[in-house]
Amino acid sequence: MDHLFRMNWLFYLTFLCCFASVFQDTLPNPNITDLSHKNMDFAVNLYRRISSYHDKNIFFSPLSISTSFAALLMATGGVTRDEILNGLNWQQLDRANEPEIIPQLFHLLYKNITQNGSLSLDQDMAMFVSDKLSMEKTFEEQMEKYFEADIKAVDFSDMRQSVAYINNYIKDKTNDRVQDMISSLDAGTQLMILNTIFFRGNWKSPFNPNFTKTEAFYIDNYHMVNVQMMYKEARFFMGHDQALRVKVLKIPYEHDVSLLIVLPNEGVDYTAIDDEINADRFQEWLQSLRPLKVEVHLPKFKLEQSYELHNLLPNLGVNILFTDSANLTKLHKDQDMKVSEVLHKAVIDVDETGTTAAAATTIGIIPYSLPPSFIANRPFFFFIYHEDTNTLLFMGRLIDPTKV
Ligand SMILES: *[C@@H]1O[C@H](CO)[C@@H](O)[C@H](O)[C@H]1NC(C)=O
Ligand SMILES: *[C@@H]1O[C@H](CO)[C@@H](O)[C@H](O)[C@H]1NC(C)=O
Ligand SMILES: *[C@@H]1O[C@H](CO)[C@@H](O)[C@H](O)[C@H]1NC(C)=O
Ligand SMILES: *[C@@H]1O[C@H](CO)[C@@H](O)[C@H](O)[C@H]1NC(C)=O
Ligand SMILES: *[C@@H]1O[C@H](CO)[C@@H](O)[C@H](O)[C@H]1NC(C)=O
Repeated sequence: MDHLFRMNWLFYLTFLCCFASVFQDTLPNPNITDLSHKNMDFAVNLYRRISSYHDKNIFFSPLSISTSFAALLMATGGVTRDEILNGLNWQQLDRANEPEIIPQLFHLLYKNITQNGSLSLDQDMAMFVSDKLSMEKTFEEQMEKYFEADIKAVDFSDMRQSVAYINNYIKDKTNDRVQDMISSLDAGTQLMILNTIFFRGNWKSPFNPNFTKTEAFYIDNYHMVNVQMMYKEARFFMGHDQALRVKVLKIPYEHDVSLLIVLPNEGVDYTAIDDEINADRFQEWLQSLRPLKVEVHLPKFKLEQSYELHNLLPNLGVNILFTDSANLTKLHKDQDMKVSEVLHKAVIDVDETGTTAAAATTIGIIPYSLPPSFIANRPFFFFIYHEDTNTLLFMGRLIDPTKV
């Protein structure tokens, strides 16, 4: 008799942009799979920018960031737009005669991911607009049509009140998990785009918390920390990448979403893997997966990461958007505007909740030979993705599970 414990992974993330007053070859018939592929390469490029600044934990939502820039794309023209197309890796999807193809694809992608409302992926976009600013009608319509964006008029001249209003909104949208996201606003802010994503995934087959034990996690050759290591022996999909010397393990959630863990072999420097991750490689990893009985050791962990994308994206060629030369004429015709701030915050919370139910798990069959093991007791990469479309919902790297 076994008790089923639910494991909840809670993710939520907020994303905002402030606008301060200052003033290739195309794919023939792009579909959502193409979009996901492009988004994944952008995600990895962004990942590399972040990892080049530090060797700590990383966690963000590629889908959320891409979606916000798809909305921004609608606001821009000229070189500003071209830079976003290039930086976000969408050149091949864009068509001169179909300016709305990218938001259309995003719209279809969301419909596909959340089909029948089975997957609890709450994605919300909100725009906080200065009550003194008149937005272009077309832009406003596009935001509603493709992103179902909430548009709220805010009196930015009362900074204290608008900060409180926006923080409250974020707190609500993230079920209280993201509080006090912003502490101040740039004088002259006219518009903020906020994108939140909240994902709650239950393992298809949960870990038994009775097997969770304190075990060592080796950050590097010189540093060891103690972690709460979960344990499960079951049939998993596991693969290898011989060239990179990594093991790959898939742990499914309910509703078509999975966690893919990429664990460098012992002695392999994880920083060497950083440069090798890309969308094609991700496909190869998935194709290498084979069903296999495996002993899995996975640490419980919790991450809370914030990124200033306005400082990261110029390295990916998205520059003008943040300067006085920004072309945001599709948002507001008469005024010079630029984007002053783009903040992204992502939180992942791995915990065992005590919801109990009966489960017919067959534990205790003695194998003829010891099953292979997958012991995540050293830094690893992880990807949370939607299976049908290969959409990267979240991506990260765990170096030290004891650091939030
Ligand atoms: C965990 O251990 C407790 C106490 O021994 C037991 O009552 C419970 O059934 C165990 N849970 C599972 C999921 O095996
Ligand atoms: C999407 O388009 C690509 C070609 O660009 C094609 O290989 C793929 O099968 C298409 N996927 C779907 C689901 O239609
Ligand atoms: C801004 O973009 C619009 C639309 O693409 C274009 O017509 C306009 O010339 C651009 N303005 C500047 C100053 O580049
Ligand atoms: C979604 O609903 C359709 C029609 O009701 C059904 O055929 C399909 O199997 C459902 N998909 C999922 C993932 O539940
Ligand atoms: C979602 O997209 C995948 C890949 O393009 C496709 O196989 C699947 O049928 C789509 N599902 C729905 C409900 O559109």
